[in-house]
Amino acid sequence: MKLKILVTPGDGIGPEITEQAIAVLKEAVQAGGHTLQLDYKRIGGVAIDHDGTPLPADTLAAALDSEAVFLGAVGDDKFNSLPPSKRPEIGLLQLREALGGYANLRPVFAFHELTDNSPLRPEIIDGADIMFVRELLGGLYFGKPREWDHAKGEAWNTMRYTRDEVARVARTAFQLAQHRRKHVTSVDKANVLEVSQMWRDTVNQVARDFPDVTVEHQFIDAMSMHLMKRPRDFDVVVTENMFGDILTDEASVITGSLGMLPSGTIGGKVNLYEPAHGSAPKHAGKNIANPLATILTGAMLLRHSFELEAEADAIVRAVRKVLERGFRTQDLVRTHAEGLTVLGTREMGEKVRETVEKQLLTASS
Ligand code: IPM
Ligand code: MN
Repeated sequence: MKLKILVTPGDGIGPEITEQAIAVLKEAVQAGGHTLQLDYKRIGGVAIDHDGTPLPADTLAAALDSEAVFLGAVGDDKFNSLPPSKRPEIGLLQLREALGGYANLRPVFAFHELTDNSPLRPEIIDGADIMFVRELLGGLYFGKPREWDHAKGEAWNTMRYTRDEVARVARTAFQLAQHRRKHVTSVDKANVLEVSQMWRDTVNQVARDFPDVTVEHQFIDAMSMHLMKRPRDFDVVVTENMFGDILTDEASVITGSLGMLPSGTIGGKVNLYEPAHGSAPKHAGKNIANPLATILTGAMLLRHSFELEAEADAIVRAVRKVLERGFRTQDLVRTHAEGLTVLGTREMGEKVRETVEKQLLTASS
């Protein structure tokens, strides 16, 4: 099979981390006789610089014409004074909207080897394994009206959902739970917001179609606390767009680093894969960024867009193995412990690629 993928490396550390992830992907699929048919396009700040717009028309066309989009990161401090409508981030939001994927899956699991790197105690996080389902096309990010009325000195955004928008993402969450520990936690602010009350009511309706899955509701404020105190109690967590944005950055503390959090967005015309972290402009070009979130994002792409389960598993296993052998990027070392070797972005990517290669060689011999 030919995997037709559009790569949009984007800004900051985006190009370095996607380069490593693509090398790992190539290695993982070739043993099965598959090839990557790659196209590269600009998005975000680099696109503003070259094309005058964060989402050039040829990038969008190529994205819609691909089987999966693999994105690095967007954003650069030099655009900080611009309004949201002109910033690099709007290119990503427009791409998400055009591709139509509404369920952003962000798996958070504590690699045993990295528990020491988390500020949380090992006995709290060891074994934690949560699948966040962040609604990605509605809520506070996309609701209208939205405006900063400079003359009036007033600004507003709108948290808006339709029942259908809530129901479809809830269904994704319940389906995922059926293949996991059969528990869904829906997060809202139903003690204050009407939109959350409808969210909760809709989730309860959908839950009736999944009698084998238990459902609980948490308020976003309480959930932020429970996540740090008892992360192992959660299986699938489904929530509004911005609540999900915030909760998943918080949850990355469980994994030891934001550099470990992959993501994939499904449900639309073309699935979109991007690490959950940002473009980290201050780390760009220094060969210090952690490519593992992006490499794990590649595994999600193989799984969710091409059903290459064995290849996806090989990548996850290789990441685990490399960590077991004591290899770390600098963000994964809190205090320098004996037996750890700190690697650069390229060297870490190469270690994982090599490990995938060895695994697949052994498997086929
Ligand atoms: C993320 C990022 C994006 C978001 C930004 C870059 C627009 O923070 O993917 O979590 O807020 O969705
Ligand atoms: Mn975010």
